[in-house]
Amino acid sequence: MAATAVAAPVPTAPPTDRIARRPTKILPQSLIEGSRITDKQTFDAAKHVNFTPPNKIYTMEEIGLTGQGLSSTAISEPFPLFTEEAIRQMRGEVFSQTILDKHQYQSSFASNMIRGHCPEDAPFIWDAWNDPHVLDIISKIAGIDLVPAWPFDTANINISVNTETDNVEITSTPQQDNGKPKEEEEMSAFGWHYDSVPFVCVTMLSDCTNMVGGETMIRTGRGEHMKMRGPTMGTAVIMQGRYIEHQALKAIGGGKERISMVTSLRPRSCLAKDEVVLTGVRGISYVPELYFQYAEYRLQALKERVRHQLRVLRRRHDARRDFDTLEARVWLEEQRGYIDAMLAELVEVEVE
Ligand SMILES: [Fe+2]
Repeated sequence: MAATAVAAPVPTAPPTDRIARRPTKILPQSLIEGSRITDKQTFDAAKHVNFTPPNKIYTMEEIGLTGQGLSSTAISEPFPLFTEEAIRQMRGEVFSQTILDKHQYQSSFASNMIRGHCPEDAPFIWDAWNDPHVLDIISKIAGIDLVPAWPFDTANINISVNTETDNVEITSTPQQDNGKPKEEEEMSAFGWHYDSVPFVCVTMLSDCTNMVGGETMIRTGRGEHMKMRGPTMGTAVIMQGRYIEHQALKAIGGGKERISMVTSLRPRSCLAKDEVVLTGVRGISYVPELYFQYAEYRLQALKERVRHQLRVLRRRHDARRDFDTLEARVWLEEQRGYIDAMLAELVEVEVE
């Protein structure tokens, strides 16, 4: 079982959303109509993936967090991932009337989000994020085999219009913070926090050519700030956000819209360390569905862990080796911790 002694950081945001809310701000009709498509396609990696590896992948060691997290990858520079046609299809799906009617949310930090639309109402996006070629690309950059964490957060869409900001975590070329922490704190769109899931991939769905700001600031293990530029249209950034304290900076100017897609990812292997929490997503989700998806994957993983351990015990027995009491107790305590973590997350909440 992959494990380190590093305690899981606790996400600190968003603290003020206990119950999911529908947006009070209406999206402009021009944005909706401008994104609509009539020629829906089926996702096809050969046609819709336009991948170029990132120029650089910053390691946990480079940001002073050696040995923490699930892999050595901290954060990538933006890299091309999807074709323009794929982005057009994704936008067409996101702004379909079915999705707008059912899946719009707001939070203390983002006036307009669209989430929870996968898989049934967004087959193109769902297929894209479950495509073996796409997941292979993402996994190689992350340094660990990843899958979408659960359907609800497969493609959280953050939308900001005009000069307003969203709460996306994004990145690119790190620059040392040269002594302007106060101004940067004032520019924060989203306070310092850790994500709820090990990795996020942020893909930009709009043209941000002339936008200023919108970076992600990370705090290194040495306490320094590093600023990462956000992705541009069609490009993506991968970050191990569960183990890196970070905040999004406000985006100003540029185009009239900023639309980003945040994909939450977890290890494919059920034996990997799993410190997922629901803190950051419970208040912006339809809780019964989120809890089902979380409980289902965790219990599936627990089932696989038990099967794996049974094979270990059987192999040892067949090899006429004595039962390893200490090892068995360590394993059982790990699983008890896993169940205790579920009990901590599956708390009763009001549902509107
Ligand atoms: Fe984040």
